[in-house]
Amino acid sequence: MNILVIGSGAREHVYFHKLLNSKTDVSLFSINPNAAISSISKALYFDFNFQNLKQAIINNSINLVLVGPEIPLIDGVYDFIKSDYEIGNTIVIGPSKNGAMLEGSKDFAKNFMSKYNIPTAQSKSFTKESISEGINYLKNKKGPYVLKADGPAAGKGVVIVDKFDEAKIVLEDMLLNNSFGKSSETVVIEEFLSGIEMSCFVLFDGKNCLTLPYAKDYKRISEGDVGLNTGGMGSISPVSFMDDEMHNKIEERIIKPTVNGLINEGIEYKGFIFIGLINVNGNPYVIEYNVRMGDPETQVVLPRIKNDFLEILLAIENQNLDQLELEINPNHYANVVLASKGYPESYNKGFVIKGIENIINSTVFHAGTLLKDNNVLTNGGRVMSVVSSADNFKEALKQSYESIGLIEFEGKIYRKDIGFDL
Ligand code: AMP
Ligand code: GLY
Repeated sequence: MNILVIGSGAREHVYFHKLLNSKTDVSLFSINPNAAISSISKALYFDFNFQNLKQAIINNSINLVLVGPEIPLIDGVYDFIKSDYEIGNTIVIGPSKNGAMLEGSKDFAKNFMSKYNIPTAQSKSFTKESISEGINYLKNKKGPYVLKADGPAAGKGVVIVDKFDEAKIVLEDMLLNNSFGKSSETVVIEEFLSGIEMSCFVLFDGKNCLTLPYAKDYKRISEGDVGLNTGGMGSISPVSFMDDEMHNKIEERIIKPTVNGLINEGIEYKGFIFIGLINVNGNPYVIEYNVRMGDPETQVVLPRIKNDFLEILLAIENQNLDQLELEINPNHYANVVLASKGYPESYNKGFVIKGIENIINSTVFHAGTLLKDNNVLTNGGRVMSVVSSADNFKEALKQSYESIGLIEFEGKIYRKDIGFDL
């Protein structure tokens, strides 16, 4: 079977790794891959757009496309492939454009949750035309104020400030100065929720769903969870404070109404649902939906799944997830992300990475790396994920930190406190 994975970060490196270990004979194809993915797949190089993607699917007789990141889904890659008479038979793992609205528009997601009584922060949306109502809305609330750009913003579209004056400036910047481009033409103002966050992943085949192990990620750049938001600096699975009672509340109040809502809306959806949750005094609330797996959570979630990954993807396609039983490795997995100094703002790249070959107690998943003249070079903000497992998360973290000591590159940064709150 010929499989093309869209995306070339550490999440996608895990996908390739899992697919290589499938019982089925597979040929794997990547697009503009990082160093590790280029060595385990057939690398295709082209500017990513749908027409070029179609050519790649035809030229390489691709049977299945697995979509890693959200932007192609939000842009409608599922609908593009499915509606094309030449490539319409290709299996696509990922939702239709309508389904991807759950991530592509926070306003859409809020209306969906409101319609299906899914617990989430109270909110109201505003545009340039209703900015004075927005300012009044802020005036009548107490801080902290949560302002969200409606559209995709690479995890940076949420601004939280304490004072009304600051909130008013942020609102004006978003609506009048388009501080997040088109994405902030609509702004969602939300009630501030206080609690501990976690990530929930659901496989959905359009009829049946299956919940994957929970994970926790560490989004801020600096220790103690302060500083700028990043794509994620580390992750842990399982989550120590998750118990059956919490899991049941999440299933009943959030997962079931979400999938029933998607079915009721007639939305085509065969893929992953990633629900960002916050535990407020023992009750789960949805912070956000994503329509793909999380990065860096995938690096600790998928290695725990013993099932053949391709069989899982085919169960999603064939709508028989109800017949699949997940086998979960009970070990604890910890991931520490190595990044480039300056990330998530500007950073330099092109530095030689040394020492990966000396690592024996961890698995390294590459993100921003590039193979050039037999050297592995840094090529992005997040450079790699260092993943270890043990029978408790502290031991797993210890192994990852020891492995990190063996990896050298100029400007190597990482958080030394992953798991501090568990
Ligand atoms: P999002 O991009 O929606 O996941 O938001 C990014 C981060 O902002 C989340 O991981 C939370 O830490 C924080 N956040 C978002 N919404 C809220 C809220 N209503 N209350 C408190 N924190 C929030
Ligand atoms: N880890 C958060 C994300 O993938 O969006």
